Amino acid sequence: MPRRLDEIATPAVLVDVAVLERNLERMAQAAGAAGVSLRPHAKTHKVLEVGRRQLRAGAVGLTLAKTSEAEVFVGAGFEDIFLAYPIVGADKARRLLALSERAHITVGVDSVEGARTLADVFAAAGRRLDVRLKVDSGLHRVGVLPEQAVGVARAIAELPGLRLRGVFTFAGHAYGETSPEGIAAVGHAEGATLTAVADALRGAGLEIEDVSVGSTPTARHAMPTPGVTECRPGVYCYNDASQVSLGVCALEDCALTALATVVSVPAPDRAVVDAGSKTLSTDPLRPHAEGHGWILGRRARVSRLSEEHGVLAVEPGERFRVGERVRVLPNHACVVSNLHDRVLATSGEDVLEEWRVAARGRVE
Ligand SMILES: Cc1ncc(COP(=O)(O)O)c(C=O)c1O
Repeated sequence: MPRRLDEIATPAVLVDVAVLERNLERMAQAAGAAGVSLRPHAKTHKVLEVGRRQLRAGAVGLTLAKTSEAEVFVGAGFEDIFLAYPIVGADKARRLLALSERAHITVGVDSVEGARTLADVFAAAGRRLDVRLKVDSGLHRVGVLPEQAVGVARAIAELPGLRLRGVFTFAGHAYGETSPEGIAAVGHAEGATLTAVADALRGAGLEIEDVSVGSTPTARHAMPTPGVTECRPGVYCYNDASQVSLGVCALEDCALTALATVVSVPAPDRAVVDAGSKTLSTDPLRPHAEGHGWILGRRARVSRLSEEHGVLAVEPGERFRVGERVRVLPNHACVVSNLHDRVLATSGEDVLEEWRVAARGRVE
């Protein structure tokens, strides 16, 4: 190290460090301008070096989804982690208890039954775990509906062993929006819904400090809502073809690409690269599911995937030759991270460092 890209075996995942740093800086500036804390979702990269760069750019801590992911980051010295997921079960609670000796841990809850599984373990140990109530602002995946929030929050706040500190939401339905105005409207509603719930909980006598919104498409629209205190975008650090399609970023803002080799050109309109679903995943493009990735600088898209084959639909006039290398911009950066043991930090044609995807595959 450093090596040149033409010495690297393919397929390989590359992260352009200058683009990454610019993305971190821009989101930090947007959060600063809105007066909210940034707590990036590290599920996108799962890389300690990227998490450290996010903290250096001003993030107050990181967001993760899994207890085992938190174990990796806390083990590496990260001190403030929010698990933005309804954590359930005494087994997880015992692991969180151990983690909370070494770091400030906050977790999501969305039911009294689930919260009780955590509360019992912490109460028996004479400790309290900070929790935030997940609110459904329109995605309809997990979270209490706004009109149920006061009742559920009251019951959770009464459980010994827990301290209800805040509320959070994730407006993932923005990924179905087909215009910048549509995304902005989802973001505004996300902020308005969550701050209204926070006010209702305070009106019921609960102390709600944290009001946490966030997704990459909605971040800039939800953050400025008065009363929002924190934002949790994830993909923004790398970006991907979905963010470009949604109009959230430009092509030159994409830091993560896959380097692939053309292994076959069986027909003028078809070429095959060595990056298949083992490299790119089968996650659809948003908002319209069209193919599995873009070939940068070339008139071709990944039209079909099997495990080791990425089949390119080649436009008339474009030609590929066996052995040449191409850059693939994936549909969704987070799922690509989860498929790889390492990513290569690059500057132009130089490989600067190899970063281990330390928290990949941590599913429990
Ligand atoms: C709860 C939660 N918060 C934040 C994020 C980050 O959003 P994005 O992936 O749009 O950056 C996600 C992503 O899945 C999420 O599930």
